[in-house]
Amino acid sequence: MNRHPFSLLFGKEDLLLLRPEWRETMLLLAGILFLQGKAKVDGLFEAIIDHLPPAEASSARRSGINLIAAMAQELDVFGYQVPDPLQELRMSNETGKTQKKDHRFGGPWTLIKLDVLRQYLSAYTTALKKQAFELVYIDAFAGSGDFSPGSGESQQVGSVRIALDTPGFHRYCFIEQNSRRYRELEAIKQQHPEKQIELFRGDANQVLPDLLRTLSPKNWRGVVFLDPYGLNLDWTTLESIASSQLLDVWYLFSLSGLYRQAAKRMANVDEHKAAALDRCLGTEKWREAFYRKSRQLTLFDDPDIERFAEVDAMEQFVLSRLKETFPAVMKPLRLPREGAPLYSLFFAMSNPNRPAIGLAQRIAKHILEQA
Ligand SMILES: C[S@@+](CC[C@H](N)C(=O)[O-])C[C@H]1O[C@@H](n2cnc3c(N)ncnc32)[C@H](O)[C@@H]1O
Repeated sequence: MNRHPFSLLFGKEDLLLLRPEWRETMLLLAGILFLQGKAKVDGLFEAIIDHLPPAEASSARRSGINLIAAMAQELDVFGYQVPDPLQELRMSNETGKTQKKDHRFGGPWTLIKLDVLRQYLSAYTTALKKQAFELVYIDAFAGSGDFSPGSGESQQVGSVRIALDTPGFHRYCFIEQNSRRYRELEAIKQQHPEKQIELFRGDANQVLPDLLRTLSPKNWRGVVFLDPYGLNLDWTTLESIASSQLLDVWYLFSLSGLYRQAAKRMANVDEHKAAALDRCLGTEKWREAFYRKSRQLTLFDDPDIERFAEVDAMEQFVLSRLKETFPAVMKPLRLPREGAPLYSLFFAMSNPNRPAIGLAQRIAKHILEQA
């Protein structure tokens, strides 16, 4: 029988793992799984989220989210990064209803992001219609095609379906690591036999550079959408996109992931967090750009190093890094528009051709100004 690896924890009727007598075991389990690999812990958290009852049965839901938060805290010493959906789920717990089994993430800002993508894809395919290029859409963190925003709206179409609904692309490449979502993508592919859809199951940081090596800028142009939950896009992947010289890039960068990993006190940025920041920013220079010695020295302390850079400076740092890597980059759209900033939506172009840059910038600027 093909049972879920964590099915024992969930029981038949109620969620066994939420019982108080299981708490210590669950905290211990978090550490054991982490030592077997971060993906195992992520898998357990995802499974718990999938089993949570809807918001109406909110006490079990709250307990589940609190349990994940406690387990994640246990892993803090290893530099474990709490997945962004957890933070978003916390918000949705306070603000609204979500449906069981949906791919739940985001909020009103997610709809803005997807609307920007929808408008860009439509304008892009229209603008390139008469050119001889083959057009590819690549979704590197594809999801399942649909999702429910944490703010409680009903199910919405995600980036994959938005792209499939946009006429003009000759080829679609969807990369997804999660097996359940990947299966949903397989079902979507079957619903669209008329389209050339290629599915890749795995880590976008490995799959995407290999995929790009098969596309020649002589024949291909396209758009890549980078929509990870947190800081799990490596800078080397962005470099391989830049050197492809054929893709326009929409990248939803997790500002909240960045300011959580780059802790206020440098002493709290352990080697795992530092390595994650090196990977996602592609440089070690964030140390000097974000941190300096604190003036408030106590008599007995070693000089303490604190982060002075706040969210604007951190966003600016990412923008500068993108400008070092791509021939053209736009000022990002900060999301959500109100409250604590969570994301910056960046647009960058890898094609160095000046007229192509001019055209893409005009389209993107217009869309971002309206967003
Ligand atoms: C925010 S969701 C994407 C949502 C999608 N753009 C949409 O609009 O429906 C992020 C997705 O990336 C997947 N993912 C996370 N890490 C990944 C990785 N390293 N490579 C590929 N997919 C990954 C997750 O399973 C999740 O489905």
